[in-house]
Amino acid sequence: MEGPLGDHAFECFEPSAAQLRAQTALDGKSYGILVCHRGFGKTVLAVNALILGAVQGPASARYAYIAPYLKQAKEIAWDALRGYGGGIGGTRFSESELRCEIAPDRRIRLFGADNAEALRGNHLDGVVFDEYATINPQVWSQIILPALSRRQGWALFIGTPKGHNHFHQLYESARRDDTWAVVLEPASTSGVFTPEELARFQRGMDPDEYRQEYECSFEAAIRGAYYATQIEAARAAGRVRQVPLDPTAVVDTYWDLGWDDATAIIFAQTIGRELHIVDYLEARHESLGYYAAELDRRQRAGRYVYGWHHLPHDANKTELGSGKSMREQLRTLGLQQLRVVPQAEVEEGIQAARALFPRVWFDETRAALLVDHLSAYRQEWIERTQTYGSKPRHDEHSHGADAFRYLAMAREFREPARQQQYATTHFDPIRDRHQDPARRYAGSAQRFATTRTRGR
Ligand SMILES: Nc1ncnc2c1ncn2[C@@H]1O[C@H](COP(=O)(O)OP(=O)(O)OP(=O)(O)O)[C@@H](O)[C@H]1O
Ligand SMILES: [Mg+2]
Repeated sequence: MEGPLGDHAFECFEPSAAQLRAQTALDGKSYGILVCHRGFGKTVLAVNALILGAVQGPASARYAYIAPYLKQAKEIAWDALRGYGGGIGGTRFSESELRCEIAPDRRIRLFGADNAEALRGNHLDGVVFDEYATINPQVWSQIILPALSRRQGWALFIGTPKGHNHFHQLYESARRDDTWAVVLEPASTSGVFTPEELARFQRGMDPDEYRQEYECSFEAAIRGAYYATQIEAARAAGRVRQVPLDPTAVVDTYWDLGWDDATAIIFAQTIGRELHIVDYLEARHESLGYYAAELDRRQRAGRYVYGWHHLPHDANKTELGSGKSMREQLRTLGLQQLRVVPQAEVEEGIQAARALFPRVWFDETRAALLVDHLSAYRQEWIERTQTYGSKPRHDEHSHGADAFRYLAMAREFREPARQQQYATTHFDPIRDRHQDPARRYAGSAQRFATTRTRGR
C-alpha cells in the first residue's frame, strides 16, 4: 500500500540515489526519522514530501514545516518550496505568511519552533521537523501530536545528531518500532560527496564535529565538550526526568541576553540543597517586552511566584537607542527583584557550573533544550594547531550554557554570605511578607533569611 510519505512522492523533482533510498524506506509509513549528514538533501526531500502530501491530500489539508527558528525556516526551506511547488498549476504563494496554497485550499506553511504557539489549535495532515536535534521536543508532544491526531496525519523528523539528546532518544525508540521508517546515512556511504570532497571537509573541521556532522555519530559530541561527563552522569543518576514544580518554593530566573544571538532564560527552584531546573526559554529577535510577557504567562500557567531575576553583567550598560540599561527597561516592564551577576572569567564560571552539576535536576521536557545545549557546549577548534582552544565556541549552544554559567556564579557568590547573614538578618515577617509573600514559603529557613537580606 502506498503510504502518505511514499512512492510517487517526488515526481516534481529528481531524487538523488541516496534520496531515493530514503524515500523507499518512508514508503507506506506514517512516521519517519532521517538521520543524515550535512548536504545529504534531506530538507529538499522533506519539502517534496510536503508538496506531494498537499497534492494528494484531503480537502482543506494542512501541512507544516518546522525549523528551530522561523527565520531559519525561511532561509532553508522557502526557496525549495517555491521552486518545487511552483511547478504545480494554480499554486499560490504568500511570502509574508511563508505559505503555499495548492488548489483547492490545501496549504503548506513554514513555522519556527521559537513561535510554536502559532501552530496551536489547527488540524494538521503532515508535518516535517527539520534540525529536530535543536527543537524543543515539547513542540512535538504538546502541540503537533494533538493536531495530527485529529486527521491521522504523518510526521517526518530530519536532522544531524547532536549528542545523546531527544533526537537520539527518538532514533533509538524508532529503531525498535516497526511503524517507523528509520534512515541513518553517513557521508562515507551515501555517495552524495566524492572521497576527495569529504577529505577536504575533514581538513577544515574539528574531528569530532566531522564525525557528528558527516558520519552521523551521536557519540562525537563528547570530546571537547565542557559538560558532557556531567550531563551523562545526571542522566545515569536519573536527574534528567519529570521535575514537578514545588508550590512552596519560589522560581528564580537566570538570563543571558542577546538580540541576533539567542536570549536564554533558566527557571530554577532551590529545594534544600538541590537545584531544580523547571523550565527554559530561548528566543531571538524579540524585545524585552516579549520576555517579560512570557515570564508572566509562564508564572500564571505554573501558578508560581518569582524570586530573583539574575541578569548578566552587561545588563547594567546603557543602551544607545533607549538611553536606558536592560536592567532599567526590565524594571519598567514590571520585573522588580533584579540582580546583576558580577563579571567573572569564563573558566571560573565553567568550574562553578561543573561543581554545581551533581545537585542539579533537569525537567526532561521543559528543560530539554537546555540539557542539549549543555551537552553540546564545547571548546573552540583551532584550525591552525589542530587542537581545541581554551575558549568556548560561540554557537547556538553557547547562550543557554552562558545562562547556566551565570546561574552557577550567582549561587557561588551567595553561598558564603548565607551563613553570615543568617544570624544578622533584619527580616521582619509582617512588613516583608507584604512586599514579597512568596518568601514566606521559600525553601529552607536558611535560604529564606539570606535571600531577604540580599534584597536590601
Ligand atoms: N534532488 C536534488 N536535485 C538537485 N539538487 C538537490 C537535490 N536535493 C538536494 N539538492 C541540493 O543540494 C543541496 C543540499 O540539499 P539540502 O539543503 O536539502 O541538504 P540537507 O541534507 O538538508 O543539508 P543540511 O544538513 O546542511 O541542512 C542544496 O543546494 C539543494 O538544493
Ligand atoms: Mg537541511
